[in-house]
Amino acid sequence: MAGGCGAPNPSRDLSRGLARTPPMGWNSWNTFKDGVSDTLLRQVADAMAANGMRDAGYRYINMDDGWALPQRLNGHLQPNPAKFPNGFKPLSDYLYARGFKFGIYADRGTRTCVGLCPGSYGHETTDAKDFADWGVDYVKYDNCNPAFFSNQAGDYSRMRDALFATGRPIVFSLCAWEFKNWMPGMGQLWRTTADISDNWGRVLENLDANERTAALAGPGNWNDPDMLVVGCEDVADFQHGQVFSDMPELAGHPGLTQTESRSHFSMWAMMAAPLLAGNDVIHMPKWIKEILVNPEVIAVDQDPAGHQGVAVWENGKGLYVYSKVLQGVNARAVALFNRMDKDETITAEWTDLGIPKGQASVRDIWKHADLGVFSDRYKGFVSPHEAVLLRIVSVKPE
Ligand code: GLA
Repeated sequence: MAGGCGAPNPSRDLSRGLARTPPMGWNSWNTFKDGVSDTLLRQVADAMAANGMRDAGYRYINMDDGWALPQRLNGHLQPNPAKFPNGFKPLSDYLYARGFKFGIYADRGTRTCVGLCPGSYGHETTDAKDFADWGVDYVKYDNCNPAFFSNQAGDYSRMRDALFATGRPIVFSLCAWEFKNWMPGMGQLWRTTADISDNWGRVLENLDANERTAALAGPGNWNDPDMLVVGCEDVADFQHGQVFSDMPELAGHPGLTQTESRSHFSMWAMMAAPLLAGNDVIHMPKWIKEILVNPEVIAVDQDPAGHQGVAVWENGKGLYVYSKVLQGVNARAVALFNRMDKDETITAEWTDLGIPKGQASVRDIWKHADLGVFSDRYKGFVSPHEAVLLRIVSVKPE
C-alpha cells in the first residue's frame, strides 16, 4: 500500500504510526543464515499460515543477509537469481495474499555482514525506492563494513529519510548491536545487544543488557534484545561461517531446554521485545509451536500501553521478580524468575510491583489458570531456569 504523495511535510511523523506494539514475525538468520530463497520464504509463509503463527500475530516475514549478488547493476542491488529467479515482487505479492508482510535486510556500510553483498552506503535513495517498489514493509539495517570516515548516526538517518521519502510505511529496524542515544526516533526498534545464540548464558546476557534502556520503550519505540532462539538447534553459534572466535565454548552446545525456551519467550514478552521467531517453522515439534503461539504470553508482549518490564526485586544470587505495567488500573504482568540451578520459592510483594496493598487476583499465564485472590503478596514455587509468568490485578474494595 503506497502511502503519501508530494513532498514530505516538514512536521512529519517519521514513524508514520508504525509498530505501535512490538513487531512480530519471523527472520531467516538464526536458522538458515545466508541460505535464503524464494522457495524458503514461501514455505515459511505457508507453514505459518497453517500452524497458527500468522493468526497469533506473526506477520512480518523478514529475509536476512545473503539475498543479493555481489555487484550492483546500473546502481541497483540485484536479488541473486539463483535464489530469487523472479525478483521480489511476486514473492511479496504471495506473502500479502496470505496476510503477511515482507521484510528485507540491508547494511549502512559498503558490504553487508556476510561480506559478499553490497551495502547501501551512498545508495540509500536508490535502495529505499527499490525496497518500496518490491513491496518491502520492514528494513533491518545492519552495521558492518562502514565506509571510511562515515558517521554512524548519519548513515542511519540517510536511510531513514530515504525510506520516508518513498511514501511507503516501512518499519526501520536499527541493528547496530548496542544502544546509542540517537536511536529513539530514528527507527521503531533498535538492537541493544550483540548477536543472540541458542545458549542460555547468551539469552540472559541479552536480557540484562536490554533492561538498561527500559524506560525508553513505548508505542513506536522498542528495545530489541535480538530475535528469538526458541526451537533453534545448534546453529546460531556459527556466525558468517565461523564459530564465534571469542566464545569457543559455545560450539556444539545443545541449545535451550524446554523450560529455558519458555523462560526466554516469557522474558521477551515481559520486555515488550519484538517477537521474531528464528527457528525452522516448517519442521517444528508441537512443543515449540505451542510456546510461540501462546496467546496469553503474546498478549503480555503486545499490551497496548507498551511498557517494558523491569526487575523490581532480586536477591543477588539469581532469584528475580520482574514487573511490567499493563493497560488498566493496577494491572501487572509479573515474572518470578529463577536463574539458579535448584528449586526455589520466590515472593512477589505488591509494594514492589507498585500496586496497593490488599487483595489482588493472580493468574498463571502459562497454565491459563486463575490461582485466586491473594493479600499483599504471592509466593510461588519456581524450578531451575523457570520464569513463572503471572497476571496480577488489584481487586477493588467492595
Ligand atoms: C549481524 C546481525 C545479525 C544478522 C547478521 C547477518 O551479525 O547482528 O542479526 O543480521 O549480521 O549477516
